[in-house]
Amino acid sequence: MIPNRSLLSLILRRKPARLMLFAAWLAAALSVPPVSGAADNQQNISPTGQPANPDLYVGADTCKACHSAESTSYERGPHWRTETAKHKGPQWQGCEACHGPGKAHVEAGGDPTKIISFAGLSTKHASSVCLQCHYRSESHQNFLRSSHLSNDVGCTTCHSIHSSKAHFLLVSSQPGLCYECHQSVEPDFSKPAHHRVNEGLMSCSDCHNPHGSFVRHNLRTSSWQGDVCAKCHIDTAGPFVFEHAPLKQQGCVACHNPHGSTNPHLLTSPQINQLCFNCHSTILAKSIAPGVPTFHNQAVEYQQCILCHVAIHGSNTDPVFFKR
Ligand code: HEC
Ligand code: HEC
Ligand code: HEC
Ligand code: HEC
Ligand code: HEC
Ligand code: HEC
Ligand code: HEC
Ligand code: HEC
Ligand code: HEC
Ligand code: HEC
Repeated sequence: MIPNRSLLSLILRRKPARLMLFAAWLAAALSVPPVSGAADNQQNISPTGQPANPDLYVGADTCKACHSAESTSYERGPHWRTETAKHKGPQWQGCEACHGPGKAHVEAGGDPTKIISFAGLSTKHASSVCLQCHYRSESHQNFLRSSHLSNDVGCTTCHSIHSSKAHFLLVSSQPGLCYECHQSVEPDFSKPAHHRVNEGLMSCSDCHNPHGSFVRHNLRTSSWQGDVCAKCHIDTAGPFVFEHAPLKQQGCVACHNPHGSTNPHLLTSPQINQLCFNCHSTILAKSIAPGVPTFHNQAVEYQQCILCHVAIHGSNTDPVFFKR
């Protein structure tokens, strides 16, 4: 068992403040060597949270003798690479980096109470084992405050070390993995206009970071919502000399459904003029943007707004978006 398990589980209860504290603790633990003269169990704790004493470890080859299936999956996966970091202690390497020191387990002929089994760990505790190594990567910095972890969805919910048949050690591949829990978004990706996620052309994780992020809805980026789209739709995002305000304020979702829509171009409204009237009301008092001029007769020619206002995402030459 991890000696300071009680500390971990105390800290890892849901409270964001405690999670922050854990992050700080991890960071501190990793950069500051244990203070000599501290309490006994602290002296023995390595940066991984597991005892540093090399006598407690046997190495992955010993485990192989009795656990051939897990050893095979381990060797096929990426984690054998931990063994190349010889300058780190054995607590950072092989099976024991995750399952804890194994000597007692081996000497007792495989006593299951003398080794960390993930079957017995809470989601948060299991995740903390993984984060000991992975929290440094940019992708995982927000995991402790993510809506996934706070809803009991942890590393081992989506990843399997020993029985994955998908990329990135995923339990199953996207989008099926995500649909298991997010059934409500699934129909969007079968609508007439949709991002081709089911076809495998892109994945949920192109736009979302399943490990959490700084912005709403676990979106990958950033200061404004268009960024996540601009990665692929560069021409729509500007900057323009004449910006169309909603792109910078609400982002692309002011007019588009990002997953899919029954309307062309993933638009939120079947009729372009209705979409524009949401903001450019003909009744000036209700309008949050300039009302359409009175000569915009909706009988015929002024219905298709984008016939004239072609550069609807913004323009470098024209304040009313007639030209790009
Ligand atoms: C001498 C054979 C032997 C060796 C060597 C050995 N184990 Fe085991 N291990 C066992 C047996 C037997 C069990 C119990 C299996 C069961 O109950 O189904 C077990 C169970 C486990 C479990 C599951 C515990 C549980 O609660 O189900 C884990 C995890 C484990 N071993 C990891 C390791 C690791 C890591 C190593 C190397 C450090 C290792 N074992 C070395 C024989 C061994
Ligand atoms: C990167 C962390 C990691 C490494 C390295 C690792 N395991 Fe595991 N192990 C897990 C996780 C997580 C599970 C739970 C099932 C799963 O995710 O596939 C598990 C499950 C097991 C089990 C089944 C009992 C249980 O805990 O559910 C055994 C036995 C086991 N591992 C042995 C080994 C052996 C032997 C090695 C080295 C050859 C090894 N593991 C390396 C993380 C790891
Ligand atoms: C001792 C450090 C360590 C621990 C603990 C650890 N990992 Fe890793 N993990 C690594 C290293 C090293 C790599 C390989 C990185 C590379 O090659 O860039 C890796 C790679 C991965 C990958 C990428 C797989 C791929 O195909 O690119 C996943 C997913 C992963 N780990 C999940 C986990 C999970 C889940 C846990 C906890 C059960 C865990 N790791 C625990 C060190 C660790
Ligand atoms: C909700 C599901 C989910 C959870 C929870 C989750 N992952 Fe992932 N993880 C993914 C997916 C999906 C990918 C593939 C991302 C991509 O396509 O870029 C991935 C990729 C990775 C990678 C390789 C690429 C990268 O972004 O670094 C590592 C390492 C990894 N995960 C580790 C972890 C660890 C450690 C945890 C827990 C702290 C965790 N994951 C929790 C779904 C998840
Ligand atoms: C093209 C980028 C993109 C892709 C691909 C994408 N999303 Fe989204 N998703 C978004 C944006 C943007 C929002 C925020 C919408 C808003 O602000 O109204 C969102 C919102 C969500 C939400 C929260 C709101 C809701 O509708 O319930 C969930 C859950 C979600 N996405 C899951 C998924 C899953 C699962 C996949 C893959 C099957 C996926 N997304 C693929 C961009 C994307
Ligand atoms: C085991 C169930 C589970 C799996 C698998 C899962 N999620 Fe989630 N996800 C949740 C829960 C629970 C929440 C938090 C409640 C909510 O917002 O719906 C959540 C939240 C989210 C949110 C934020 C929604 C919002 O409104 O802010 C996004 C985006 C998301 N998940 C995307 C994904 C993606 C992408 C995948 C696949 C890589 C995935 N999830 C896999 C259960 C899951
Ligand atoms: C990973 C690249 C990628 C990202 C990120 C992305 N898209 Fe797309 N998008 C595409 C591709 C490729 C198409 C082409 C349509 C297809 O797949 O059939 C497309 C199509 C579209 C269309 C329809 C175009 C048409 O001619 O009808 C709209 C609208 C759109 N995306 C908006 C968005 C929005 C809004 C976001 C951000 C929430 C976004 N996209 C993020 C790749 C991306
Ligand atoms: C004010 C409403 C509005 C906003 C906000 C908006 N769009 Fe559009 N978008 C439209 C309309 C209307 C069309 C249809 C244009 C046409 O039929 O020529 C369109 C078409 C598109 C197309 C397909 C045709 C093309 O021009 O390439 C893409 C891709 C697209 N938008 C992406 C985006 C992205 C990415 C954002 C955010 C940066 C965004 N849109 C923000 C209204 C908007
Ligand atoms: C989400 C709200 C919203 C939607 C939807 C919207 N607009 Fe706008 N639009 C604005 C705002 C806000 C301004 C900027 C007003 C300002 O700068 O004072 C603006 C500016 C404009 C301008 C420039 C007016 C000027 O005097 O500078 C035109 C033209 C325009 N929009 C046309 C359209 C058309 C056509 C559509 C439909 C395809 C549309 N808008 C959809 C909010 C919206
Ligand atoms: C046949 C071409 C045409 C169509 C179609 C058209 N407009 Fe215009 N729009 C114009 C002209 C011309 C102006 C005046 C430009 C100027 O003042 O320099 C204008 C100006 C505007 C302005 C700026 C008003 C202001 O006070 O700054 C808005 C907003 C606007 N249109 C919205 C729309 C909307 C919404 C639609 C669709 C319902 C639409 N337009 C359809 C030609 C058109």
